[in-house]
Amino acid sequence: MVSSEIRHYYLRRWHSITGILPVGVFLVQHFLGNAFAIRGPEAFNHHAEFLLGLPYLAVLEIGGVFGPLLFHGLYGLVVTAEGDFAHPGHGIGLRYHNLAYLLQRISGVLLILFITYHVWNTRVQGVFFGRTIDYAYMARYFAPTPEKLIYILGIVCACYHFSHGLFNLAYKWGLTVSARAQQGMTVVSYVVFATMSAMGIHILLSFK
Ligand code: HEM
Repeated sequence: MVSSEIRHYYLRRWHSITGILPVGVFLVQHFLGNAFAIRGPEAFNHHAEFLLGLPYLAVLEIGGVFGPLLFHGLYGLVVTAEGDFAHPGHGIGLRYHNLAYLLQRISGVLLILFITYHVWNTRVQGVFFGRTIDYAYMARYFAPTPEKLIYILGIVCACYHFSHGLFNLAYKWGLTVSARAQQGMTVVSYVVFATMSAMGIHILLSFK
């Protein structure tokens, strides 16, 4: 009993760390890389070729992105299934913190579905079915309005989950103990959320 509690404690710590490193860092890098689409097909394709030509690509993808994301996502489901929706933070008020905590779990579950869909269409199609995933492919793929709507929802979920995750992480690791520090961190997380969501939607709409 005690050993399973200790194991759960350490797994939650790892879950917390992987949310930021490497998964959160990858999310930011993914947005910045795809932002080359704003400069047009040539810049985007050049960046995509650079990524696909990286040495040890499989090791980087599996060890640095998919592995940690799989752990974070699956253990996230275990944490969500525990049904503990009361956040101990008090900076803005209990009702706000509990709602934000719940939304972070809902966005996590939606992200499992969205990321699976996204990886299937943009990576698996290239690796296993020989499709060329370039600007033209992405522009065709995003063209239907329902597809754009799915992606806007996915982008907003990822940005909310990540930015509110920064608040949770700071609280959990003892960086924001006072109510004032928690209020400041709430503002930071909303600035990150608004900036990243605007950026993600702008990138999506720039594929024409
Ligand atoms: C784009 C992918 C993702 C990113 C960037 C990300 C990032 C983060 C970050 C930074 C945290 C804060 C860590 C903490 O609470 O200490 C977090 C927490 C969490 N994540 Fe994710 N995550 C992602 C995907 C997922 C998925 C697919 C799930 C599946 C359900 C998930 C479930 C959770 C849960 C339940 C928490 C709260 C943990 C807690 O309160 O102890 N995440 N995530």
